[in-house]
Amino acid sequence: MSGLGPAARDALVAAARRAADSAYAPYSGFHVGAALLFDDGAIVTGANMENASYGLSLCAETVACALASHAGRRGGLVAVAVLGGPGGRIDAPVTPCGRCRQVLSELAQLGGTDPLVLSVGAHDVLETRLSVLLPHAFGPAQLG
Ligand code: THU
Repeated sequence: MSGLGPAARDALVAAARRAADSAYAPYSGFHVGAALLFDDGAIVTGANMENASYGLSLCAETVACALASHAGRRGGLVAVAVLGGPGGRIDAPVTPCGRCRQVLSELAQLGGTDPLVLSVGAHDVLETRLSVLLPHAFGPAQLG
C-alpha cells in the first residue's frame, strides 16, 4: 500500500525524470533527478549540481528541498521520487544518500509527515518510507 494513486505516482516519476535532464554532473557523469510531492498536489523538482571542488556537489534531493524552502514550503511533504544513472540512463534504483535523508527529514518533520520514497530503477521500484531510511532521526524538536 503506497498511499499514492497510480496517476499521482506516474506524474511524480515523470517529473523526476525531466528534472534529471537538468543535472549538472560533469565530474561523475551520474545524472539524478528528484521530485517532491506536497499535500496540496504541488511538485517541486531538483537535479544534482556538481562542483569542481568535488565535495561541494549538491544532490538532486537537496536541491529540490532548497527550492521548496525558498518557495515557502515548511512541511506537507508526502512523497519523493528519485532516479538517475550514468548519463541519465536509469539502471538500478537510486536511494537518497545519508545527507539527503537528513535534509528531507527536516522538511518532513516540520509538517509531521513520513514521506513515501520511490527509488526508481529501470526494472524495479524500491518503495519505502523516510523513517525506514532514516530511523531515530535527529530533528528540530530535539533542539528544544
Ligand atoms: N547523487 C544525488 O544527486 N542523489 C543521491 O541520492 C545520490 C547521489 C549525486 C551526487 C553526485 O553528483 C552523483 O550523484 C554521484 O554520486
